Amino acid sequence: MKPNGHPQKIAAITGVYGYLPDYVLTNAELARMVDTSDAWITERTGIKERRILKGEGLGTSHMGAEAVRGLLARTGTRPSEVDLLICATTTPDLVFPSTANLISDMVGIGPVGSFDVQAACSGFIYALSIATQFIATGTCRKVVVVGADKMSAIIDYTDRATCVIFGDGAGAVLVEPSPNGEGILDTIIRSDGAGMIHLHQKAGGSRLPPTAETVAKRLHYVHQEGAAVYKFAIAKMAEVSQEIMSRNNLRADMIHWLVPHQANRRIIESTAERMGLPMDRVMVTIQKYGNTTAATIPLCLWDYESCLKPGDRMILAAFGGGFTWGAAYLTWAYDGAERTAAH
Ligand code: UT7
Repeated sequence: MKPNGHPQKIAAITGVYGYLPDYVLTNAELARMVDTSDAWITERTGIKERRILKGEGLGTSHMGAEAVRGLLARTGTRPSEVDLLICATTTPDLVFPSTANLISDMVGIGPVGSFDVQAACSGFIYALSIATQFIATGTCRKVVVVGADKMSAIIDYTDRATCVIFGDGAGAVLVEPSPNGEGILDTIIRSDGAGMIHLHQKAGGSRLPPTAETVAKRLHYVHQEGAAVYKFAIAKMAEVSQEIMSRNNLRADMIHWLVPHQANRRIIESTAERMGLPMDRVMVTIQKYGNTTAATIPLCLWDYESCLKPGDRMILAAFGGGFTWGAAYLTWAYDGAERTAAH
């Protein structure tokens, strides 16, 4: 119940769409760029290829706008009906204005509110959690949530430990009041800024604005201490998933799908194992797209949409820079096979 005594509405995901750039960067091509091999990347990460956005002047908004255009067409939604657009991204087109502002303009949404959420790889869960509140309170009826990242813009392609895992992509979902009682039933978001030392971009912000020196020292790229991040990711993804299961009285056999952030196949497998879930109930797209940061979870929903049935119980879970982490528990609201057959 809201403080004023009115019942809160359940928010539901009522549509999903994904966009992936055409260019495929394979492990073989990476092995020609840095000292690595298809065998190492496959064994240590599960990734075979990732997509890269090519084209001068194209930023994250290009991919986000493509995903939102597809989403609106697929759900029969006019841009003028959208009440709010939230974009989770770590690679905004510009420091300001927000990428959400740019996407709204490109798609013809507005003038309604739009803003970015910065929570690195957990960004989509943060943004979904925010969208849920706007629906629950009755403030909005149609919220578009985008997860989009052009990671290739901030990856150092001489750093073999980092460059092999990331890729570019965008996914978008429509969040509306539930048509049938199914929907987003719980969310958890967490952060610990002390994790910054292990995963961040050193220059380009107000602490260290860009200079010729910061560029020469390669400080505008992702600095990732992979092994340290891996350790936290394994612990926190499982912990937050178990917490959301426990506070919603969910046993492993009641969960139809785990939708994990795709950073490393070994992190995904370990999370599933600790939750007691077999891998055939875990969405995995990492082999095709790598780690697309805020886009991994909506891209999983997009890839698996045709398998999803109304009432399917799902746990979404992510971990990323910040550190940030989070989880969502939802029941799927529509027949994914019917939707994909119709398009
Ligand atoms: O998206 C959210 C945040 N990010 C993550 O969750 C990523 C978490 N971390 C990881 O997924 C893994 O740590 C990586 C895939 C990034 C790295 O894998 P790792 O097994 O942790 O490797 P490492 O950095 O501990 O390095 C182990 C060895 C080192 O060689 P020595 O010192 O043992 O001789 C590295 O130099 O593997 C070497 N290495 C590589 N060898 C071939 C590191 N990267 C590569 C590479 N190819 N690409």
